[in-house]
Amino acid sequence: DKIALDTAKNLAAKAAVDQWVTEDTKVVGVGSGSTVVFAVERLAERVWKEGCLADMICVPSSYQARKLILDHNLTLGDLDRNPKIDVYIDGADEVDSHMVLIKGGGGCLMQEKIVSSCAKTVIIIADYTKKSLRLGEQWCQGVPIEVSPMAHVPIKLKIEELFGGVASLRIALKKAGPVVTDNGNFLLDWKFLAKREYNWDEVNRALTMIPGVLETGLFVDIASKCYFGMADGAVKVQS
Ligand code: A5P
Repeated sequence: DKIALDTAKNLAAKAAVDQWVTEDTKVVGVGSGSTVVFAVERLAERVWKEGCLADMICVPSSYQARKLILDHNLTLGDLDRNPKIDVYIDGADEVDSHMVLIKGGGGCLMQEKIVSSCAKTVIIIADYTKKSLRLGEQWCQGVPIEVSPMAHVPIKLKIEELFGGVASLRIALKKAGPVVTDNGNFLLDWKFLAKREYNWDEVNRALTMIPGVLETGLFVDIASKCYFGMADGAVKVQS
């Protein structure tokens, strides 16, 4: 029997936090999404129930992460005061066999990439549905790309011309119009061609060279380790 997804997320989060956040860890970067909630809960448990990690400062990667840190009474930091992060913990929408990630399903990719780039170690936590051999096996919403609002149409056309597939403006569910990110920008979700062999490092570089592209949800050579909560209740670590 497969365990519930939330149980798998929780197992991965707890294993990663307990392995990577120690009394020597001063600054923790907090990612975004539903899996990170379990990591923050575990951090709060360590601080408030176990009396550990008294000096730990948490740097958020989104509005959601900031609120999570505040709601759990953890110490909120920022990149002005804490530009060097010991460990960054975040979820992912998909992880391939080379640890290339798709992120940004929740729209927070830009700050996630900035905060993770300041970390010595980047730990990804996920349930078993995020694990793939090739990108696109599990996550079908495509690669999220944060763009300047005035440029979303030309950027869409350039991406489709360069790499094929379809890039669509992400539309908000409960508002008439596009999703606006924490940074005031729009998102394109690029559904790439499932059968084409992409070199994700090259694709990512080329995408970021398009004027008006602010960040992509392709995380290449960023993750140090990935903790997966598996369907049988085990935790698998990929590096
Ligand atoms: C937020 O925009 C994303 O990058 C998340 O890290 C990613 O979508 C994983 O989210 P879940 O933990 O909810 O799967």
